[in-house]
Amino acid sequence: MFNTDVIYEVVTFSVGDTKAGTKMGKLQLKNTEDSSILNCVLWEETLNRFDSKVFRTGNLVKLVSASFNEKFNNCLVSALEVVKEAKTGLSEAEREQYYEAIIDYIDKIHDEKINTFLMRYFMEHKERIKIMPAAKVMHHNYIGGLLVHTLECLQFAEANMEMADYKFNRDNIFAACILHDIGKIFEYTIDLETGLIDYDENFRKEWLSHSQYGFSICMNEGFKPVAKMIAAHHGRSDWGAIIDLDQKDLEPELYFIHLIDNLSAKFGKINVAKLEDKGTANCQS
Ligand SMILES: [Fe+2]
Ligand SMILES: [Fe+2]
Repeated sequence: MFNTDVIYEVVTFSVGDTKAGTKMGKLQLKNTEDSSILNCVLWEETLNRFDSKVFRTGNLVKLVSASFNEKFNNCLVSALEVVKEAKTGLSEAEREQYYEAIIDYIDKIHDEKINTFLMRYFMEHKERIKIMPAAKVMHHNYIGGLLVHTLECLQFAEANMEMADYKFNRDNIFAACILHDIGKIFEYTIDLETGLIDYDENFRKEWLSHSQYGFSICMNEGFKPVAKMIAAHHGRSDWGAIIDLDQKDLEPELYFIHLIDNLSAKFGKINVAKLEDKGTANCQS
């Protein structure tokens, strides 16, 4: 059921076609009081009355007029009101700061081959790297989200390497943090006006996943230990990992990158609301 007094947060929004050839909006809302999920449908005439900005992920909305369909367990929405518009992500100045903070980490890599490759790659793809999200829904799903996620991984990795007795190859760990999700710059599209994220169909035609992309570019460059960490960073094959960590005798670094990735994805600035919490970008390295 739904409640017209409750404030809902937009989780996802997509538009598809009905059998009759008209447009249909699918909107997933989260009840901010009990975190329950409400699946909603909007017919074409309703969609036409709204700017797509209304459905941006993170927006806080109230249902003004809707009816609940028991059979489909969804809510047909005919009117809603935006209570608070979410940020679309990092501002241009923040993106520049985050980008530079990652370049500072590349500077810390002594291995000349890795350092040169990363500098060149970052210059070549700077514009995409600066805007892309780290996910459509799961975490860091906003403009500049990949920058924030990458920097968080670098910072978590640096702090944990500092505390550990294990002798890490810091160059490889930093490179794995920087490159583990780099395929996402081609895997997604993001609208800089609305902040809406989608999958890039062309990426899917050429590549299986961003893990495979990162693994391949590292193998091509001869960065085999980095490639292996990228192959395992999703942890389990049913989570998209090429190497499943549920195997014996794997290098400890493979677990490290998986854990670091998870730290950022679960405890970092995972959504736009978290960006607003602290007010300013935490991108001092
Ligand atoms: Fe990933
Ligand atoms: Fe990641």
